[in-house]
Amino acid sequence: MKRWQPVSVLSDIRRGEVAGVRIGGREVVLWREDTPTPMLHAWEDRCPHRGMRLSFGFVRDDALGCLYHGWQFGGTARCRLIPAHPQVRVPASIHVHAYTVREHAGLAWVSMDGAEDFPAGGTGPDTVLPVRTLHVNASVGALRLGTGIAGDAGMAWHGPVGLAVHEPVAGQAMLHVVRVADADGPSSPVLSRWAERLRDAVESGADIAPVMNELATGEMA
Ligand code: FES
Repeated sequence: MKRWQPVSVLSDIRRGEVAGVRIGGREVVLWREDTPTPMLHAWEDRCPHRGMRLSFGFVRDDALGCLYHGWQFGGTARCRLIPAHPQVRVPASIHVHAYTVREHAGLAWVSMDGAEDFPAGGTGPDTVLPVRTLHVNASVGALRLGTGIAGDAGMAWHGPVGLAVHEPVAGQAMLHVVRVADADGPSSPVLSRWAERLRDAVESGADIAPVMNELATGEMA
């Protein structure tokens, strides 16, 4: 089944920035154009020239440049400039593999298998503030169950707080926390500390219901 995964909070990929993430064991580069209307892109994190990680690269306007030999790839993922041979018309066959990506609820959502319909369980408000992302040394199944993420949905809302989970590699999880802007409820620093308690409880195998109850009651340390 094709699906969308919430792979990063958007504050980690601002205009002109590049970030490497793992999704299901695959390396993916997220990058945002440095233009007045900067689009977000998600590509395989591998240069088609010599295999350099593109997440080490740099953004030039609406293109991502590879750090090794400077080949530049435009927003369509096709190579459009080889600096050592600037007069060469680059064949269309030289391109990076691109994934579909959407921005929603303060998160970057990526489909590795070409899903078009969006959102897939990722509904929620759009005026959202990213809080933080944590690595959790536990399976996504345990974290999804404990945080109330149902079925194949990528996230769950608990009042003004959104919790999203994705699997970087088998047996590991990334927890992304967001909150509705201008809503009553815990501040971002308080939520950040709460997320650490949640992570600690999950990793230690403790009952996480008391931690989740803090979220339900709004009574956080
Ligand atoms: S490895 Fe990327 S340009 Fe050579």
